[in-house]
Amino acid sequence: MRITMIGSGYVGLVSGACFSDFGHNVICVDHDQEKIALLQKGVMPIYEPGLADMVANNVKAGRLSFSNDLASSVKDADAVFIAVGTPSRRGDGHADLSYVFAAAKEIAASVSDNTVVVDKSTVPVGTGDEVERIIREIAPDKKIWVASNPEFLREGAAIGDFKRPDRIVIGTENPEAREIMQEIYRPLYLNQSPILFTSRRSAELIKYASNAFLATKITFINEMADLCEAVGGDVQDVARGIGADNRIGSKFLHAGPGYGGSCFPKDTLALLKTAENFATPLRVVESVVTANNIRKRAMARKVLQAIGKDMRGQKIGLLGLTFKPNTDDMRDAPSLALIQGLEDAGAIIHAYDPEGMVQARPLLPNVIFEDEPYKVAEKAEALVIVTEWDAFRALDLKRIAGLLKTPLLLDLRNIYTEEEAKKAGLVYHGIGRPHAG
Ligand code: UDX
Repeated sequence: MRITMIGSGYVGLVSGACFSDFGHNVICVDHDQEKIALLQKGVMPIYEPGLADMVANNVKAGRLSFSNDLASSVKDADAVFIAVGTPSRRGDGHADLSYVFAAAKEIAASVSDNTVVVDKSTVPVGTGDEVERIIREIAPDKKIWVASNPEFLREGAAIGDFKRPDRIVIGTENPEAREIMQEIYRPLYLNQSPILFTSRRSAELIKYASNAFLATKITFINEMADLCEAVGGDVQDVARGIGADNRIGSKFLHAGPGYGGSCFPKDTLALLKTAENFATPLRVVESVVTANNIRKRAMARKVLQAIGKDMRGQKIGLLGLTFKPNTDDMRDAPSLALIQGLEDAGAIIHAYDPEGMVQARPLLPNVIFEDEPYKVAEKAEALVIVTEWDAFRALDLKRIAGLLKTPLLLDLRNIYTEEEAKKAGLVYHGIGRPHAG
């Protein structure tokens, strides 16, 4: 199959590389000339484990290439995927679809007959209809079908998620489009990954409903963590206890500082906007969004309360800035609201993140960036673990206790236990766990 991927951002690049790894011929297109030039030299614009090697292998095998020229790249394609960004529109939270529609226009002008145009970007219900309308208007005589094929890739685990998906969702009611999509995903089909064919609108909704449900699960366990702290329970035991029920499931029940990232915050807001447009209130999702925003701000209060003194001019050390490990992505990271709250109280923040500091620097102009965890701890009033990078899971806690001004460890991801921290001479506060004081 000849596949063209429009948009070589996170989703486009990972999907394009994986499709080429299946043996398809893939061209990844982007307007950004610098990005394409870098990719042509083998330099990845994002950090994703395994991606650079996969790209190099498939480029070498002649199956994967990069281009700025959309028109010539879509000409002979069997499928053209739209994987451009759909950011929250400033001010109103609606998904900004201008890049999707612009891509649809350009594709329609150059694509040949018998091609399926596939929305991979996360787009609100009905966007496929609009893409189809745009294409029909520009190319009324061409045989082009529009399908929806949402992605469910987690940053940091995207290649594994692509190759061993829980399911593949394809929204089309057209037999020709269905056949092409089936051929594209054949390697996964043979792997017995379930392929779900639905209507285009259902496919669009599945993506938003999945993310909203996962955000709900996280927010639920975060609130249980607050209750555990109040009543003296342990949220990890509660999560294990409820997660063992197959109807609930054990995943996405890690209490923490609130969800962040490029998907959950943006997609929950966009879903609420769709619901508003169709006068169908989603009260559960509304509460999730509110609770998560409140939680991110509450994390600063938790840290300040644990320290319990005037923080003006005092140092606090932070480990981890990205919204989760194995990514350099700082979008909507809980660290941003936490740092804001701590700086408002007059604290001076020193921080270290294994991959996120390049993106973090411009967002956090007052933070002092260190190049390793122990410097972060030196003479600080407290050390706060914000992101559960593996590099922070085996710290020399005794050394940390010796370096800190006040031996206080706030573990917002529960990667240590009170017992081991105490043994090292640290006072420990986790999330939703009993605290001996
Ligand atoms: C998510 C979805 O998982 C993916 O299917 C979708 O396509 C895009 O959005 P991603 O944003 O990469 O992927 O991250 P994910 O691993 O899902 O984590 C999102 C946020 O939730 C992170 O801030 C993470 O720390 C938080 N989280 C996740 C928790 O706090 N607890 C959990 O149990 C799980």
